[in-house]
Formats: sequence, structure tokens, C-alpha cells
Amino acid sequence: MRVAMVGAGYVGLVSGACFADFGHTVVCVDTAPEKIAALKAGRIPIYEPGLDALVAENVRQERLTFTTNLAEAVAGADAVFIAVGTPSRRGDGFADLTYVHQAARDIAAAVTGPTVVVTKSTVPVGTGDEVERIVREVRPGIAIAVASNPEFLREGAAISDFKRPDRIVIGADDPAAAAVVSELYRPLYLNHAPILVTSRRTAELTKYAANAFLATKITFINEIADLCEQVGADVQEVARGIGLDNRIGRKFLHAGPGYGGSCFPKDTLALVKTAQDAGSPVRLVETVVAVNDQRKRAMARKVVAACGGAVRGKRIAVLGLTFKPNTDDMREAPSLAIIAGLQDAGAAVVAYDPEGVEQARALLAGVDYAADPYACAQGAHALVIVTEWDAFRALDLRRLHGAMAEPVLVDLRNVYRPEDVRRHGFTYASIGRP
Ligand code: UDX
Repeated sequence: MRVAMVGAGYVGLVSGACFADFGHTVVCVDTAPEKIAALKAGRIPIYEPGLDALVAENVRQERLTFTTNLAEAVAGADAVFIAVGTPSRRGDGFADLTYVHQAARDIAAAVTGPTVVVTKSTVPVGTGDEVERIVREVRPGIAIAVASNPEFLREGAAISDFKRPDRIVIGADDPAAAAVVSELYRPLYLNHAPILVTSRRTAELTKYAANAFLATKITFINEIADLCEQVGADVQEVARGIGLDNRIGRKFLHAGPGYGGSCFPKDTLALVKTAQDAGSPVRLVETVVAVNDQRKRAMARKVVAACGGAVRGKRIAVLGLTFKPNTDDMREAPSLAIIAGLQDAGAAVVAYDPEGVEQARALLAGVDYAADPYACAQGAHALVIVTEWDAFRALDLRRLHGAMAEPVLVDLRNVYRPEDVRRHGFTYASIGRP
């Protein structure tokens, strides 16, 4: 089948490359000429494990191409995906749909025959209706159906999430449109991936409900972790003890410094706003948003406490800046609020991250960057693990101890066992453990 992917950002590029790998002919379109030029030259503008090889192979097989010319890409396509950004709107937190609406207008103007326009970007309930209205306005009478097919990809594991999904959700009020989108995923039938065909609005809401539920699960265990610290219990064991109950499930119960990233913060806020506007507020999710925001700053106070109550004039080493490992993405990363909190308290911050430094430089002022974890720890009064990159899981504790001015380790991801770290002479603080 022929697919046009409008928006060659994270979602568009991963989805486009994976559809091409299934054997479809895919054209990725983007308005940014430098992005398309880079992709044509074989450079991938984002960091995602395995994506460079997947793109290269499908370009070589001539199944995947890149262009800035939307009309050319859309002409003759069986399905046109909208995978442009939906950032939070300044002020009210609602998803900014400017790019989605513009894409709908451009696609409608360019369509040459019957096609299905599919929103893949995470869009608030009712966006499909608006896209359909725009399409009908621009091209009255042409056979264009509008469907919703939300993505559930995790950064860092996006390709395997696409190829081995827990489920695929297709929202279409027109059965023929649902059949076209289902056909694109036919290679996955072998993996028995359940395909749920729902109404368009149901599909749109399913995506928000999924992300809000996961954000709630994380926030729940984070609050239990705080309670564990007060009552002398171990959150790792509590998480295991509840997670083995199939009704609860083991995943997303890892306590930490609060969730970040390009999805959870934005999508929870957008759901809160949608629900308020619909007169049916989601108070639980409102609380999750507030608790998570406060938590990031609270982590800075935790570091200060581990340093004996003051960090003024001290050198604090931060390991890990990205919102999670295996990405260079700094959006809403807990490190941003933690570092700002430490600087406000008078600390000098030096940081190391395997992939995130370039983006971090644009977002953080007054931070020094080290070339590796040991250089980062040199002369520091505390070492703080903010992101659980594999490279931080087996650090040479003896070497670190020798390099630091004070042996204080604050492990905000519970990567280490307290007894191991203390045996090396460190003062150790972690999340929700005695
Ligand atoms: C998420 C969803 O998982 C995905 O389905 C959706 O499509 C987009 O949003 P992503 O943002 O890439 O994906 O990252 P994810 O691995 O879900 O982690 C999100 C945040 O939660 C990270 O900051 C992570 O550190 C944090 N987290 C996750 C925890 O603190 N504890 C956990 O147990 C799991």
C-alpha cells in the first residue's frame, strides 16, 4: 500500500520507517527543509536505538523516501497520516492543534483520489471531527474518510513497540476506512496483536486514558515511596508485592523523581482541560499533575538534605539529564527542575549525560558538562543519579569515592543496593527505602 506520513518528527519517522519495513511504500513529508535534507543524506535527526539502520535499509530498498513536497507525497496515497506536533498551548495547557489543522488543509488540497486521512498525533477528543470539517470545506464532494490511530510508542523502545504492540486502536466511523487502516497493520496479524476498531472519539479518548492511567500509576508509587521513607518500609518490595497481583501488574511501578517526557506531562494536562470543558472533571488526574510537578522540586530538597542541609558553594554532580535512558530528549525532564532547585540553593552543578547534553545546553544555564561519570564526580560534594542509563548501573564506587570531595550518593532511580554503596563508605540516599 502507499502511505504518506505528514510530519517527520519522532512519531512520523518511526511509524514511517516501520510501515516501510512491513513492505508498504512510504513517503515522509516535513515542512523543515533542513530535516528532509538531513534524512536524504542518511542522517537521523533524533536518537532512537535501531532507527538509523531501519531507515537506511528501507531507503536502500526504495520503500522509504523523504520530501518537503506534500502534494507529491499525498497524490495516490491509500492512507495519509497526520503525525505533526501537538504541543501544550501556552496559558491553558490544551493541545495546540494549529499544525494538525494546517496539515488537514494541505492534505485536502492535494488529494487526487479516494483516501483515508489518519490522525496519529495525540489529539483531543473531537479533533477528528474538526479535521473532517476542514477536509469537507476545502474539497467538498471528494471521497476522503477521517480516522484515528493513536500511537503508543515509548521513546527508546519505539521500533519494538511498533512491531510488537500490545494492541492497535483504530477509530473510524466508516467501516471502509477502518478496513484500509487495518490492512496496513496486516503484517502484525502473525504476532496476534489485537486490533480494536472503535468509533473515532473512543480511539482519541483511549490514548489519553492510557497515558493518564500510567502517569497515575507512577505517581501512586512515588507517593507510597515517600510514605515508605517516613515509616521505614521499602518501596521496591511494596511495588513487587502489589505488582504480582495480576489486577495491578508489575510495570510502571518504579518509584523515581517524577515522570517527564514529551507525552505524560502534556497529555495529562490536555485531558484535564478536555474534561473540564466537557463539564466532567477528572479530579484524580488533576491531582496527579499537581503532585508530579511538586515532586521534581522536592527532589532538589532531598539532595540538599543528603548534603547535611545546605549546598551553598558546594559542587553537585548530576548523572543523567534526559527524561529517561536511551533518548536525547530533554522535554519536561526532572533534571531541569532538580538542577534549577540546586542552583537556587547556591550549588554549582556539573553534569554528565551520554546523549542529552546538546539539548540540555539550550535549556540549562550555568551548568558545566563533564566528559564521563568520573570526571563529573571529581571534587563533588554529592553525586546525584537522575536518569538510569545503563552506564550508571555498575560504576566503580571505589574510584568515585576517591574522586569526590564528600562521598554522598543520591540515587533517585534506586539503581544501587543500599548495603553495597554504604560498604564503600558513602552516605547514601535513595527513593522510598530505609
Ligand atoms: C509514554 C508512554 O509509555 C507511551 O505509551 C506513549 O505513547 C508516550 O508516552 P515515553 O514518554 O516515551 O512513553 O516514556 P515512558 O517509558 O513511558 O516513561 C515516561 C516517564 O515516566 C519517564 O520520565 C520515566 O522515567 C517515568 N517512569 C516510567 C517512572 O518514573 N516510573 C516507571 O515505573 C515508569
